[in-house]
Amino acid sequence: MAPSRAIYTTARSALHRSLPPSPPCLHHRRLLSAYGYEQAKILALSSLGEPKDVLHLHSHSIAPPHGDLLTLRFLASPINPADINQIQGVYPTKPPFTTTLGTTEPIAVGGNEGVAEVIAKGGSVKGVEKGDWVIMKKQGFGTWRTHAQTKAEEVVVVKGEDWEGLRPEQVGTVSVNPMTAWRMLRDFVSLKEGEWFVQNGANSGVGRAAIQLGKLWGYKSLNIVRKRESGMEELKADLTSLGADAVITDEEFEAKGFRDQVKEMTNGGREPIRLGLNCVGGPLVNSMAKHLAAGAHMVTYGAMSKKPVSIPTGLLIFKDIHFDGFWVSKWSDANPKEKEVCIREVLSLMRQGKFKDVPMSPVTWNHNTKQEELVDAVQGTLEGFRSGKGIFVFGDT
Ligand SMILES: NC(=O)c1ccc[n+]([C@@H]2O[C@H](COP(=O)([O-])OP(=O)(O)OC[C@H]3O[C@@H](n4cnc5c(N)ncnc54)[C@H](OP(=O)(O)O)[C@@H]3O)[C@@H](O)[C@H]2O)c1
Repeated sequence: MAPSRAIYTTARSALHRSLPPSPPCLHHRRLLSAYGYEQAKILALSSLGEPKDVLHLHSHSIAPPHGDLLTLRFLASPINPADINQIQGVYPTKPPFTTTLGTTEPIAVGGNEGVAEVIAKGGSVKGVEKGDWVIMKKQGFGTWRTHAQTKAEEVVVVKGEDWEGLRPEQVGTVSVNPMTAWRMLRDFVSLKEGEWFVQNGANSGVGRAAIQLGKLWGYKSLNIVRKRESGMEELKADLTSLGADAVITDEEFEAKGFRDQVKEMTNGGREPIRLGLNCVGGPLVNSMAKHLAAGAHMVTYGAMSKKPVSIPTGLLIFKDIHFDGFWVSKWSDANPKEKEVCIREVLSLMRQGKFKDVPMSPVTWNHNTKQEELVDAVQGTLEGFRSGKGIFVFGDT
């Protein structure tokens, strides 16, 4: 049956008057199709390359769900650095290309993280209801799209009590960065209350999450941010308000005499730094490692400077510093239950006002939003010193 012409209506129309009022964060206008078909738009790529060269908007229709399928309407999908690397083809996993989205040549959908609302479900789906929100279980889902259809087992279900009072932007950014910070703080070293960790890229989504979780768990953080021409004091104040114990620039960190300041901060070395988190790479990592206590771990999770890490052998031989890597996708695949627990705990902290989301630059994606606007938002993520993380927030789709 061909999908009929789509018509605008309100999500909570007369048909839905028996439902409780929708929370203020839900968008009230959306596009519905007759006969249960949904008109989906996706930001797709047919080949790997620079986002501005390969991304295009593609429309297709989605049939009513049957069996264990859910039809989803996206609410918010962030633009993370790894999404760009994936499109460029320089990430270990490639976006899955398919011909099931109404094209003869294979295409893939950009984006890996986000939150969507369940708008229809197949007859055998249990434990998920219309109106529940869902978060993707695995990388490679393709979240830069208005609608999707998927098996219920592919998503983590977030009930109203989990997201009540939160915005889709908050819920849609919980499964990558806070999770990464959480695992790195907990899985490599068992820090005691009052012990320090040092991190670069402290203003990143992961860095901000590490500051806050660290504070909640009683750890002290020494935070390195890259020097910027303006707004430095404001940034330091912002990170301090999140719970950072010290915030300094990369230049200050590398300056002569800083070693003495670290000694002072760590109570003459009696509060050792046993964990380092590396988002940036390059020579800064050596300088950080020199401040670590014997047997400490330096965990690399990002490479924002695109510079390699070279390790002085003395740190390995005489101080037994461990250089590790962490990749949240691999961890999530191996630990799906723990991922769910972390998601709910971070959402709970957010609801209690104990965990702040990152500054964001929302890009509204409406039914008529032009391809150019969406592609520019993705390409812009590559530019430095941004005021906030780019995130698609879906409107009247
Ligand atoms: N391994 C994993 O499982 C995992 C999970 C999540 C994220 N990551 C990685 O972690 C990194 C941060 O991700 P995110 O989502 O948290 O990032 P984000 O919120 O978009 O922030 C990017 C950060 O990178 C900094 N930065 C950009 N270019 C830089 C450069 N040339 N030199 C130094 N710093 C630079 C920015 O500094 P300013 O604040 O000065 O602009 C900003 O703080 C990315 O590499 C991402 O791929 C890895």
